[in-house]
Amino acid sequence: MPSIVIVGAQWGDEGKGKVVDLLAERADAVIRFQGGNNAGHTIVRNGETWKFHLIPSGILYPGKTCVIGNGVVVDPKVLLSELDGLRARGVDVSGLKISANAHVIMPYHIILDHSGEARLGKLEIGTTKRGIGPAYADKASRLGIRVQDMLDEKILKKKILSALEPKKALLRPYERDPDFGPQLDLQRMTEDLLTFGHRLEQHIADTAALVWRALDDDKLVVFEGAQGALLDIDHGTYPFVTSSNPVAAAACTGSGIGPKDIDEVWGVAKAYSTRVGAGPFPSELHDETGELIRERGGEFGTTTGRARRTGWMDLVALRYAARINSLTALSITKLDVLSGFDRVKVCTRYRGEDDARFDTFPYHQSVLHHATAEYEELPGWREDISECRSIADLPQAARDYLDWIADQTGVPVTLVGVGPGREQTLWTEAGAASPAIVAAPVQA
Ligand code: IMP
Repeated sequence: MPSIVIVGAQWGDEGKGKVVDLLAERADAVIRFQGGNNAGHTIVRNGETWKFHLIPSGILYPGKTCVIGNGVVVDPKVLLSELDGLRARGVDVSGLKISANAHVIMPYHIILDHSGEARLGKLEIGTTKRGIGPAYADKASRLGIRVQDMLDEKILKKKILSALEPKKALLRPYERDPDFGPQLDLQRMTEDLLTFGHRLEQHIADTAALVWRALDDDKLVVFEGAQGALLDIDHGTYPFVTSSNPVAAAACTGSGIGPKDIDEVWGVAKAYSTRVGAGPFPSELHDETGELIRERGGEFGTTTGRARRTGWMDLVALRYAARINSLTALSITKLDVLSGFDRVKVCTRYRGEDDARFDTFPYHQSVLHHATAEYEELPGWREDISECRSIADLPQAARDYLDWIADQTGVPVTLVGVGPGREQTLWTEAGAASPAIVAAPVQA
């Protein structure tokens, strides 16, 4: 049975949660493989809204194995409050498994994220200030605290001490701060983590082995990406990126499988573009059209509530995302937000400062920072499409828009979103015929 990786094909917030949710219904296991609680996935089911930051949304289906893989950075406090929230709403969370090798976001990581951004001042990246970057930095420096360390007091204390040593000077100003100081106390930190570890122990596992078993048993396995291709630390708009690899390849390193274990890679993209935080965004709109898209699309962050920057669909970036992820399918979300425009613009290439034209994503930061979008215009549609339940119900102009995207990227569109509800997701012919969908009918 196919295994599918779902990734963001833009700057995050593409609506991956909804696509994962649809596939999770058919899957046996759902695995998060990178990022942390900088992510925010919103699922609307039977009129009820669910927000997830760490736990795979598959948890809403009883009996699914939901894995937080080794590539994720875990804030145990956030994870526990998410678990408590789910339990309080009657959700069975026994299927949640957390990799013993995942790294822990410590209180000092959050403080360092705040202070790093403050130091950068106007040049700040606009991080979610959840401690993501400093936690991954410690992982790479071999100073990280791992989930398994929360179960061993002796090791834990030693490791925290080692991790704090090189940060002393940076943390000193915070030690006397009544908000931050107590969080930096070694004893308190150790005790808190041991308590968290104790509460999470039943979920801590060798998750790679769980994933291998599901693959060996020919089950449908879904890998749930967070953020998006253009925020990738290697391939995105560095340094305005997150500190992990949101591309499909990270499903391997972040969960313990090899590339040959992946059968399909589905990229999720909005029918337009958004970005949170700073960094290049060639098709950004600074006018009332951008404002209209923000209002109609409800483009305010799930995690931080920040207003998102908005712009037209960027095919230069999407083609790049298709390449670096080996996309086999595209899900286009929020098509309904574009209803009402006479003409819809699509960025098909960039123009550099010296009038050079770029059909492919420029590798050089200076080019990218000064790039402006060149557009092609397509006929828009006026109809409200949120009630459409099949591709055939869509106005011709909306269907042409989807065909244009597929044609320009060379990737078939499989799913189209016309609203936040599950029933507002339309399967295209290519989607319905995709091996994963054919092989894995919805389980009773
Ligand atoms: P960090 O991941 O908190 O370090 O933030 C780095 C950059 O990635 C910032 O521009 C954030 O706004 C952006 N970012 C991180 N997570 C998400 C996400 O889930 N959606 C959209 N942007 C994100």
